[in-house]
Amino acid sequence: MDLRLGAAVPATDEERAAIASVLGPPQTGWDGGQRQAADGHVAFGGHAARARRHLLIPVLHAVQERIGWISPGALDHVCERLTVPPAEAYGVASFYALFRTAPSPGAVVHVCDDLACRVGGAEQLCEQLTRRFGAEGTRAALNGTGVTWQRSPCLGQCDRGSAALIQHAGADPARVGLAPADPDSIWQALSAGLSAGPPASPDRPLVPQITNPVSRTLRLLRRVGQVDPGSLGSYRAAGGYEMLRRAIGLGPQGVLREIKDAKLLGRGGAAFPTAIKWEAVTANPVRPHYVVCNADESEPGTFKDRVLMEQDPYALVEAVTIMGYACAAEQGYIYIRGEYPLAEARLRHAVEAARAHGFLGDDVMGAGFRFDIEVRRGAGAYIAGEETALINSIEGKRAEPRNKPPFPAQSGLFGKPTAINNVETLFCVLEILRIGGPAFAAIGTENSTGTRLFCLSGCVERPGLYEHEFGITLRQVIDAAGGVTGGRPPRAVLLGGAAGSFVGPDALDVPLTFEALRAIGATLGSGVVLVLDDTVDVTDLLRRIAQFFRDESCGQCVPCRVGTVRQEEVLARLTRHAPFRTIDQELALLDDIGSVARDASICGLGQTAVTAVASAVRLGLIGES
Ligand SMILES: Cc1cc2nc3c(=O)[nH]c(=O)nc-3n(C[C@H](O)[C@H](O)[C@H](O)COP(=O)(O)O)c2cc1C
Ligand code: SF4
Ligand code: FES
Repeated sequence: MDLRLGAAVPATDEERAAIASVLGPPQTGWDGGQRQAADGHVAFGGHAARARRHLLIPVLHAVQERIGWISPGALDHVCERLTVPPAEAYGVASFYALFRTAPSPGAVVHVCDDLACRVGGAEQLCEQLTRRFGAEGTRAALNGTGVTWQRSPCLGQCDRGSAALIQHAGADPARVGLAPADPDSIWQALSAGLSAGPPASPDRPLVPQITNPVSRTLRLLRRVGQVDPGSLGSYRAAGGYEMLRRAIGLGPQGVLREIKDAKLLGRGGAAFPTAIKWEAVTANPVRPHYVVCNADESEPGTFKDRVLMEQDPYALVEAVTIMGYACAAEQGYIYIRGEYPLAEARLRHAVEAARAHGFLGDDVMGAGFRFDIEVRRGAGAYIAGEETALINSIEGKRAEPRNKPPFPAQSGLFGKPTAINNVETLFCVLEILRIGGPAFAAIGTENSTGTRLFCLSGCVERPGLYEHEFGITLRQVIDAAGGVTGGRPPRAVLLGGAAGSFVGPDALDVPLTFEALRAIGATLGSGVVLVLDDTVDVTDLLRRIAQFFRDESCGQCVPCRVGTVRQEEVLARLTRHAPFRTIDQELALLDDIGSVARDASICGLGQTAVTAVASAVRLGLIGES
């Protein structure tokens, strides 16, 4: 079969070079994935080519970085080389928000208009950009390549919004995050040429962190600001790689025992016991095993994992290595969202340095086990943070969640047993090994052990990342961040992000633990604490939440796909005060949508899509400002 796909315009030399930068030069012979067709045309295919399907997203990134979009010619050439049907590859390219499948200016500015940035004035920034660069999506002149701007969901810089991300295509491509961003700083970044920043030194101000006033001990943030994130030597001088040494001393079962004793629950949102997951993978006789770190962090209002990765990247590399050791895996992946260029650059640098010094590779620390890590970049999809969607994304597919069971520990990446954990969870593993499982369990409360990272944003005096022991109250968390801006009383707090819920002032003294929040129908989720005072237009925030879920639903399940649209309609009616329905009727409809989505959706997105809006309606936040 001739695999020529017949794009009207074949791939240019530039596009072929970009593709080869990931796939290497075409090899001859079927095993190399290339053959000579009868008419002399070079075609590709075979098992070897198909086995590299997982490189589809990295190769699409390479094309887009070089020419600014995924052209049909380039996509055809990718399909030939990887033996992917063109319709499927197009389905992947068009799924992710950071990929463009139509010609685009060389520079694209993504401007966050999500929750925290809205509170901080994102709409004003959008108006200023319209005046400076023209309407959203139009092209303005810039160094011959052009520039356009577009709105974006949360960029993970909520403590310093309004935030922006600039993608710059060309021979010297770059991405850079700006926060706070204004038209001048954006223009300066565009004209000066961009750089993700050298990984050798911290090039941005540190976020404020304040420990729990009771213990005054930072655990997960202990090295932030104390080590040079670009230096393995600096990390080692601060005790780096001592935990891996300890893990090797304990052996895989010993590590599992410590984590079990610590009663560690995952920090990615679902609060699942880490030890159960790792044990299930370890005990699975199928080989190989994989471990994955979920660094997709796209929940609006969340930026904790970014800070950890930007400021302490070696710690994550060490923690993933411990995870691989405990789970008998030889390969690990860190899947990081595409909106985190600085964190990605530092992680890649850390992985290379760890490999060069024997902390990754065939004989890790001379202890006789093999382990390596690959950093994979996401491409703009909130749903890719759901663990099975993330697995699909690493495999080069659309980030659509899978049905569970089978769970990743049974059949995960490439159909093999896979453990997957959040960045913060893995930082907890380091702390558990440092102080021991029982000591970790003694911190916090009986069922919520250890410390937790809180992402403070909105109307607080000192937005930023804070570490506190579980059990601290919401009031104490807000006070530790300087209190509500201007000393005003808080009107409501969004806990857990868009997938979380609003709580009112009556919840200020509830201890922040998994169990206490569950009891009041709330969740800590990814640690978001978005504080709102009486100057904030909550209805506007709710509209943004509804739009977010409508945009981010992957569309596989009807209740989620349709329910998220219905939710927007309910909100529109409520905010127009439509006379033919009462608030109770609208609430009942939201409950209906929510319960159908909970029962009939594959994943947590559909199951939580109406929670925040319904909680706001219950608190009477609609229409007031
Ligand atoms: C829509 C959706 C988005 C998610 N996004 C993330 C994310 O960005 N980061 C994360 O760690 N977990 C995310 N999760 C949770 C993961 O599915 C998974 O539970 C987590 O990575 C497991 O790690 P943990 O046990 O360490 O929490 C998301 C879940 C859903 C349903
Ligand atoms: S619940 Fe929504 S996001 Fe999740 S799989 Fe179904 S359609 Fe996709
Ligand atoms: S960066 Fe804007 S809300 Fe998070």
